[in-house]
Amino acid sequence: MRPLAGRAGGPLLSRSGWQMAPGERAALEGVLADVKPRLAIEIGTAQGGSLERIAAHSEEVHAFDFEAQVDPAAYPNVTFHHGDNHVLLPQLLGEFERAGRNVDFVLVDADHSSAGVRRDLEDLLRSGAVRETFILLHDTMNEGVSSGLEAVDLDAHPKVVFCDLGFVQLDPHARGLREIWGGLGLVICDEHGRLGITPERRDRDRSWRAALGVGLWRALAPARAARRRARERLGDALRRWRGRRF
Ligand SMILES: C[S@@+](CC[C@H](N)C(=O)[O-])C[C@H]1O[C@@H](n2cnc3c(N)ncnc32)[C@H](O)[C@@H]1O
Repeated sequence: MRPLAGRAGGPLLSRSGWQMAPGERAALEGVLADVKPRLAIEIGTAQGGSLERIAAHSEEVHAFDFEAQVDPAAYPNVTFHHGDNHVLLPQLLGEFERAGRNVDFVLVDADHSSAGVRRDLEDLLRSGAVRETFILLHDTMNEGVSSGLEAVDLDAHPKVVFCDLGFVQLDPHARGLREIWGGLGLVICDEHGRLGITPERRDRDRSWRAALGVGLWRALAPARAARRRARERLGDALRRWRGRRF
């Protein structure tokens, strides 16, 4: 067997371009290998770490970012959509819906504000192009992200057959005012029950939260929330400014 160090340049352990921990990358790789998407969407590309793997496993990919920092020529099966995905994603989903197409896989990893991530998931679930779809959500361990996702009314979308916001959980490193990041959630839609997935909802059962107990970190939750709100207001202003440039 080759030592893992020998694979340092491989997709799971190389450091370049990724904003995910190795365990999260392995989960993404596993889901993609299982789903083998014909049509995939990535919301949030940055330096293309996750996009490289999504493109490798999918026939056709649509990637959203204000300004993806990758060379489009290296991704012949990817269409890049530059601008605010809150505007562009519903438009593209509408086109797919009118064409009767199904989106097989989505990675949600862009706007990490509570309202932003909630809107991303709601836009997806509302779409008639999201019928048999695996949706991976990054940074579900973040308090702001998880509160946004928990506000989504899954019962309004009977096609959601599986939801586990703690699908991948990292060591939380909870300390003071420090935010926790990382973690993957998985939502699966199966409108006609063809995927044969046993219905399961685990959105209120995340063991990492229970493990955090009642210490200082928990007591500082209101201070973190206030800081997050301030950052989100700044993010909104930045998005409006960036949106005007596209
Ligand atoms: C965490 S990074 C994505 C990392 C990437 N998925 C990976 O794992 O390699 C988030 C990206 O989302 C983009 N983003 C944030 N809000 C956005 C929005 N409303 N519309 C489009 N892109 C957005 C940012 O520009 C940033 O590049």
